[in-house]
Amino acid sequence: MDMRGKTVLITGSTDGVGRYVATELAKQGAQVLIHGRDTARAKTLIDQIGAKGHAAPTFYQADLSSLAGARQLADAVSADHNKLDVFVSNAGIGSQNPGPQRQESADGNELRFAVNYLSGFLLVYLLLPLIKAAAPSRIVNVASLGQHPIDFDDVMITKNYSGSRAYAQSKLSQIMFTIDLANELKGFGITVNSLHPATYMNTTMVRAGGITPMSTVEQGGDAILHLVEGDDIANKSGLFFNGMNEMRANAQAYDEAARKRLRALSLKLTGLPS
Ligand SMILES: NC(=O)c1ccc[n+]([C@@H]2O[C@H](COP(=O)([O-])OP(=O)(O)OC[C@H]3O[C@@H](n4cnc5c(N)ncnc54)[C@H](OP(=O)(O)O)[C@@H]3O)[C@@H](O)[C@H]2O)c1
Repeated sequence: MDMRGKTVLITGSTDGVGRYVATELAKQGAQVLIHGRDTARAKTLIDQIGAKGHAAPTFYQADLSSLAGARQLADAVSADHNKLDVFVSNAGIGSQNPGPQRQESADGNELRFAVNYLSGFLLVYLLLPLIKAAAPSRIVNVASLGQHPIDFDDVMITKNYSGSRAYAQSKLSQIMFTIDLANELKGFGITVNSLHPATYMNTTMVRAGGITPMSTVEQGGDAILHLVEGDDIANKSGLFFNGMNEMRANAQAYDEAARKRLRALSLKLTGLPS
């Protein structure tokens, strides 16, 4: 896809792999909407991109640890734009940041489920009018190979909590949503895919986990860019990729009843109409 003039929103693009993807898309002439919590980090990125002679991105500040934050972001983007060619749901926290213990979002949901999955779910539906207006358009969910099945009797992991289980549950939730949404959007000219960008890239969340990085941000970023603009996947939807290659996700992703339960719960938690 020729990215010139395309409007792209990347959540969590003030740091890590999102920052790389934003920079590359700005280089290609896209109108890039960056998002994060930190104004200073956003300014540095805007200045770096502007200094190279590319159109400076627009920064949207929102904390996705509350559903009100996701609504605020969608409202701000919708006020400024009437179409969104690509939405990359990338913002996330790892298994150890901020702290390995169980935490809750402003809405009382388990924090990793809230930030990594539920806010992205809400954002997609709030931004859907803009995404539909830009069709053919794309949604990319940045998930992970770390996937843990959802225990529907304890989605908020009040028992046997670990940061890695919570992270992996949130990432499988994104993949289940991807499959579900791709089915829902058939015929609208919108594709939805998810991916594991790369294993242990050198980013804040990996360093916070005390893990020695194994991949570069560029490797993972290029895998995200493949789903954002690759011509070979223009008509592919509902898939999970490991880097550049299509891969099968955890079995629960293909369990229609489980996806239906997750959707019903997500609609209830976000207050969206069913
Ligand atoms: N790193 C890896 O090896 C790896 C592997 C598989 C999948 N992934 C996935 O890749 C994505 C990006 O990860 P990364 O490694 O680039 O992480 P990172 O460097 O830690 O960056 C995370 C980004 O998300 C934003 N963010 C975090 N919490 C937020 C919140 N409550 N509200 C709004 N924004 C928030 C951060 O914004 P601030 O600047 O405001 O903190 C930052 O821009 C994540 O979804 C992650 O699960 C990463």
